[in-house]
Amino acid sequence: SGPAPQVFVLFGATGDLARRKLFPALFHLDRAGLLPETRIVASGQRPRSEEDFRDHVCRSLEEFAPEEGDARERREFAAGVSYRAASTDNGADLASLVRRTEEELGEDAERLLYLSVPPSVMEPMVRMIAKEGFDARARLVVEKPFGTDLASARELDAAIHDVMEESRVFRIDHFLGKEAVQNILTLRFASGLFEPVWNRHHVGYVQIDVPEEIGLEGRAGFYEATGAFKDMVSTHLFQLLSFVALEPPARLTAEALRDEKTKVFESLRPLDPDRVVFGQYEGYREEEGVDPRSTAETFVALEARVDNWRWSGVPFLLRTGKALRAKRRTITVGFHGPPLKMFDLADEDCEGVDELVFELTDEPEITIEVRAKRPGPDLDIAPARFVLDFARSFAGTEPLEAYERLLLDVMRGDPMLFTRADGVERLWEVCDPVLREPPEPIGYPQGSWGPEQADALAAPRGWRVSRD
Ligand code: BG6
Repeated sequence: SGPAPQVFVLFGATGDLARRKLFPALFHLDRAGLLPETRIVASGQRPRSEEDFRDHVCRSLEEFAPEEGDARERREFAAGVSYRAASTDNGADLASLVRRTEEELGEDAERLLYLSVPPSVMEPMVRMIAKEGFDARARLVVEKPFGTDLASARELDAAIHDVMEESRVFRIDHFLGKEAVQNILTLRFASGLFEPVWNRHHVGYVQIDVPEEIGLEGRAGFYEATGAFKDMVSTHLFQLLSFVALEPPARLTAEALRDEKTKVFESLRPLDPDRVVFGQYEGYREEEGVDPRSTAETFVALEARVDNWRWSGVPFLLRTGKALRAKRRTITVGFHGPPLKMFDLADEDCEGVDELVFELTDEPEITIEVRAKRPGPDLDIAPARFVLDFARSFAGTEPLEAYERLLLDVMRGDPMLFTRADGVERLWEVCDPVLREPPEPIGYPQGSWGPEQADALAAPRGWRVSRD
């Protein structure tokens, strides 16, 4: 049987994430017949009429899920959404609506509290939730970033643990809901082919590269306070790193897997600010809502080191930024070249020529690049690719978008793909040297690959994505 009926209480419902991802995700799950009976109780700071808010939901779906359903279906979906204003010091109205809705849904209804609010109000919101008695039997979903440094993350975790036990807390990092990320686990542990070479003896480097073409998209307030490092690196990119680097868990349970992730974070060397490049795109300071002297970074590239037996000596290179040349979300595992040169190849064509590449798109792509003989009379060697053929192997299936997958997991009570307090806190420790001494952001032109200084980190082969 599927999950019980849900009362989905969304804090921060007028924000960007709700409109861009959460409403479209719930709408798609509903249309795909995957959503249990669900009532959405939305809340934001400002009082708004229910009608006004439902229009807002319809417009969000139109804009961000244009292919999904028609106007009538959008209206029907929005009709199931109610709205109440709530703030960190007053949630009484909202609480009574939630209780009424729950009674209507019946005894087995479950309560899901989704905190899509900025880090600065997260902790007071958690306290308000407890004060108004929202916490009873509820699951709590917390959006990243979880705190802004070790001290604030500890405070937030303490506030959350005052209210509910860790097993009901779901810290969401939507990158972990991406199909291809789960395929890192299946390739590594459901097959015997890759694991024997998944170590320092065979791997020369790992790159986790998430360039974006978009700029601020109206999120100046959030971005000025957060910056690319906390928005993407200390969260998404390090989470991806843990899936690449972790040891095989003793069994496939949420706790065993998350124990292994925490061990990776424990093994991470605190970042060396000399191996971190910050950038800021030209024109950023002129964007609406941005301080004309802002030092917020819109680009980060860095080298991380996992100091354990498996990975000692292997650089993990992380890069992300806004207003870059292309949008990609790519994990590359680069392998050492052959021990002897049999073919006529330049040295730089030997090391790192074999690359296993995960594209974390909604329809995942996994390829292995090797060298092959070009057809014809000569022994001419050139790059060629193995491609994992998802379309043919799994014809007729439809992938879920990351938030869709993770929202279902919360409703099913499965925390496997969510982050745990201990891991998050350790990550802030790893990031601490950079938070204390952030590098000066270097200007870069929009539509470029960021500051040149970032290329030196990935020498000699360079960033795979920039080579494509
Ligand atoms: C979000 C960040 O968490 O992830 C955004 O706040 C970023 O700045 C986004 O654009 C990227 O997510 P996706 O799923 O579009 O790759």
